[in-house]
Amino acid sequence: LVRHEIEAGGYSVTVQPGILRNVGEITQRVAPAHRYAIVSDETVAGLYSPTVLSQFAPGSARLFAFAGGETEKTRETWAAITDAMLVAGFGRDTTVIALGGGVVGDMAGFVAATYMRGVPVVQIPTTLLAMIDASIGGKTGVDTPAGKNLVGAFHPPVTVLADPQTLASLPLRELRAGFAEAVKHGVIADEGYFSSLVGGLPGVRDGRLERADAATEMIVRSVSIKAEIVRRDRFEKGVRKVLNFGHTVGHAIELLSGFSLLHGEAIAAGMVVEARAGERAGITEPGTSERLKEVFERVALPSSPPPGMNPEEMLNAMRSDKKGRAGSIEYAIPLRIGQMAGEDSAWGTPLDDTLVRNVLLEAVG
Ligand SMILES: NC(=O)c1ccc[n+]([C@@H]2O[C@H](COP(=O)([O-])OP(=O)(O)OC[C@H]3O[C@@H](n4cnc5c(N)ncnc54)[C@H](O)[C@@H]3O)[C@@H](O)[C@H]2O)c1
Ligand SMILES: [Zn+2]
Repeated sequence: LVRHEIEAGGYSVTVQPGILRNVGEITQRVAPAHRYAIVSDETVAGLYSPTVLSQFAPGSARLFAFAGGETEKTRETWAAITDAMLVAGFGRDTTVIALGGGVVGDMAGFVAATYMRGVPVVQIPTTLLAMIDASIGGKTGVDTPAGKNLVGAFHPPVTVLADPQTLASLPLRELRAGFAEAVKHGVIADEGYFSSLVGGLPGVRDGRLERADAATEMIVRSVSIKAEIVRRDRFEKGVRKVLNFGHTVGHAIELLSGFSLLHGEAIAAGMVVEARAGERAGITEPGTSERLKEVFERVALPSSPPPGMNPEEMLNAMRSDKKGRAGSIEYAIPLRIGQMAGEDSAWGTPLDDTLVRNVLLEAVG
């Protein structure tokens, strides 16, 4: 089976169907340690930890599983995992293995960033979102009552090992949410890639990813786009902000939905709204938001905020989340599919609140 290796700025992302059967050998080669702490959530651990554990000598690797889900991405879970590692006698000579989606990757990465002042982490993403987004870039952390991802660290992985075959067990709704980020990558950097996604999720039949290998090309292209942006801006000072396309409005939708919408669902709607606002402001090529809407409708992702969501509350949520230098809300806005605006303004574009309010009002019907 084909192996793709993408350089992400000091480490590589390998995408290869079946690589899960080799992660033990690879980890022991690139991040050798006395003990290996496999951090996972209970769902993923039930599915894939036996395969991973069996590749280590008895006693050298141990599973630390938590309940999983965004509500468990907390300091309490971080404390429980690090305490369990301490009790089990894990020392400085430890490598952490993150086996799971973005919640696990953020948690395991933060455990690794802080355990004994920092130990290596290998990321093994098992959701589409984690493969093409969360596992790349070195951002780790936990949520607090004051907001998402507010306590954390930059702690790049030693390597990222993505096995598209693990997506065969992922619920379709989660796959679609990851697909929204893939569409975002097309808008940001590659019109040809965007066009290839218009047909929908590759390899899906009867509500499941039947041919996982069909998703590999999509994963490789998305990883390449995210990795290139991260290489250019490791600490999110400039161009990396383009990855926020759809996220200013999307985060507000996610929050006001009470997290009943998945992140990817909320940002799909956010991208359509932001592209339309960009069109109104004369920045974005007309028709861009319609093209986005078409792709999302095809896979049953939302292309507008839930009916009745309050534009004023959305603007308030956006204001506390994304205040720009001049105090106005900044957006990552496309010029057209394949190219982002703001090269000469640190990639953030302030838009007039009235214009955005009008677009939101139309969108919520
Ligand atoms: N660090 C970053 O740069 C970054 C970027 C984007 C998102 N994130 C974070 O990622 C998180 C979202 O990640 P996510 O969407 O992967 O969510 P997730 O980790 O909660 O996974 C979604 C669900 O799928 C299950 N699952 C995972 N892999 C599976 C598989 N192969 N088969 C069956 N079930 C599986 C999980 O148990 C979970 O219930 C958020 O907390 C977000 O903040 C981080
Ligand atoms: Zn996102």
